[in-house]
Amino acid sequence: MCGIVACRGREHASDFLLAALRRLEYRGYDSAGIAVTGTDRDDLRATRAVGRVAALEARIALERPAPGLGIGIGHTRWATHGGVSEPNAHPHRDCNGAIAVVHNGIIDNAAELEAELRGRGHVFTSQVDSEVIAHLVEELYAETGSLAAATVRVVGRLRGTWALAVTAASAAEVVLASHRSPLVVGSGPDAHFAASDITALAGTVGSVCVLRDDDIVVLGDQVTWLDPMGREVPPRESVRLQWAAEDIEQGAYDDFMEKEIAEQPSVVGRLLERLLPEVLDGALWTQLDLPRPSRLRFVACGTSLHASQVVARTFGALAGVPAETVVASEYDELAASGPDEGLLTIAVSQSGETSDVLHALEDVGGPVLAITNRPHSSLARRSHAVLETSAGPEIGVAATKTFTTQVVAGAALALSFAAVTKSLGTTAVARHALRLGSLPGRLESAHTTAFPVAMALAEELAESRTFFFVSRGGGLPYAAEGALKLKEITYRNAEAIPAGEFKHGPIALIEKGTPVLVLENGDAARLAGSVAELASRGARIIRIGSGSEDTFPILSGPAPAWGPLESVLAFQHLARCLAVTLGRDADKPRNLAKSVTVL
Ligand code: M6R
Repeated sequence: MCGIVACRGREHASDFLLAALRRLEYRGYDSAGIAVTGTDRDDLRATRAVGRVAALEARIALERPAPGLGIGIGHTRWATHGGVSEPNAHPHRDCNGAIAVVHNGIIDNAAELEAELRGRGHVFTSQVDSEVIAHLVEELYAETGSLAAATVRVVGRLRGTWALAVTAASAAEVVLASHRSPLVVGSGPDAHFAASDITALAGTVGSVCVLRDDDIVVLGDQVTWLDPMGREVPPRESVRLQWAAEDIEQGAYDDFMEKEIAEQPSVVGRLLERLLPEVLDGALWTQLDLPRPSRLRFVACGTSLHASQVVARTFGALAGVPAETVVASEYDELAASGPDEGLLTIAVSQSGETSDVLHALEDVGGPVLAITNRPHSSLARRSHAVLETSAGPEIGVAATKTFTTQVVAGAALALSFAAVTKSLGTTAVARHALRLGSLPGRLESAHTTAFPVAMALAEELAESRTFFFVSRGGGLPYAAEGALKLKEITYRNAEAIPAGEFKHGPIALIEKGTPVLVLENGDAARLAGSVAELASRGARIIRIGSGSEDTFPILSGPAPAWGPLESVLAFQHLARCLAVTLGRDADKPRNLAKSVTVL
């Protein structure tokens, strides 16, 4: 959560910083701020504002500061320590306002450092843990005369997690440091840049170097890499940016979520072009170079957890491997679960930066496979093998195309594994591969059908406060995903319930008109009894199925091993249309941020 940007050497630092912050707004949107060095070298100007980056831009436009030296740092915040207020917004400054710091992460020993600094006369102006960094730099910069040396010593005193950027009025540089929180650096023809997320730099630089834990990087005339002792070391390997500037633009769509829903058929098509040729001969699995597991444990959160549940079932159905799914934040409950021989842990995370997932992996001894959209993320670096989902940038906070690609990549992997272990014969593998290959067309047609139906339903259901999502078996993770999407962006209550469970209690909640979304998975006949019980109590039944009488007639043919994936188009469109009808910001729901980097 939170986003960091920095630049050194561009004429109008604030232009770059504001544009980059707009791109990082999905990382947190409580407040934002920038600090730029002024025209004379002892001038450092910080501007902060509560709310979106637009509020910061408005304030800067009002103040009309003179163009600076091209050195600056910026931040967009998702509050953890201290409420949402201007004093709590970053950048934080030292006692003299001559040093500015932006920070992502949590400083665990902030209270004790603050007490120590207050004891030496420092004055604090916020409730934010990050402020201690500015005051520590103040002391050590005065002592060493070098911002880099000061930062090296400051991070030696911190406990917790950080990605930080420091600049000072009298230093023509920005110093960066990272510990369990992402940062990348890249260079253009006339400037050096840094950001906590590559999205900010797409179109500005062609490649980036990813900081590893405890790296320090100085953006000066040159980019200099230091080890934790402050000794110069070679730069990290540079990786080419696959995302172009236009991939991050909203284009003609009303919001990013609408764009990302619409992209699913083409994104899945491209992913399958890459993966399907390696499924039939099992190369997709063998190239990962992992020991053959006797059981699987998926670890994930939120939408990625639902994708994991689908993929776990698919592995069971196609390859007969027992697979369990664990909520990452509950992983420590498994600590005493016995020996892990033959276990492969599969961590699923679109961002690859989710703290609950990374934290869970600290307890994992055996091999780890990451299924992620970010092949250079912290998760990818901590895993033994990576399966990239190639969804492209997803800016809407609600996961859409990253869910679909996680399911498709996972299903392709399960099929490839089945081919290697021969748990399926060649003909069966080919049959499943053919069905996978038909997904782009199926998703396209579900998209076209679902959108107008969802728009009409959103009008009808705008006053409904509670929604139920009902299914059985392989449909349940999709029902859970539908409920999550709806509550996340509409702020309406939504719950997924196995059809047969309703009569054991939840049916008491059904009133006249309560919307119940019923998702079939080739089992319409078995669902019929439960649906009749709900309908007879006045529920407004909305069916997602294969029959022409269904509200969303978007499924067809026998249920595949990975379940009714096309149903997500109905759920995503309905959640988004309802959010828009209710006047919500579909891309930036309240209290949330794209990547959850706190425990
Ligand atoms: O980056 P991750 O996939 O690890 O994120 C996990 C969840 O935080 C995420 O899926 C969240 O539930 C989404 N906002 C749901 O749309």
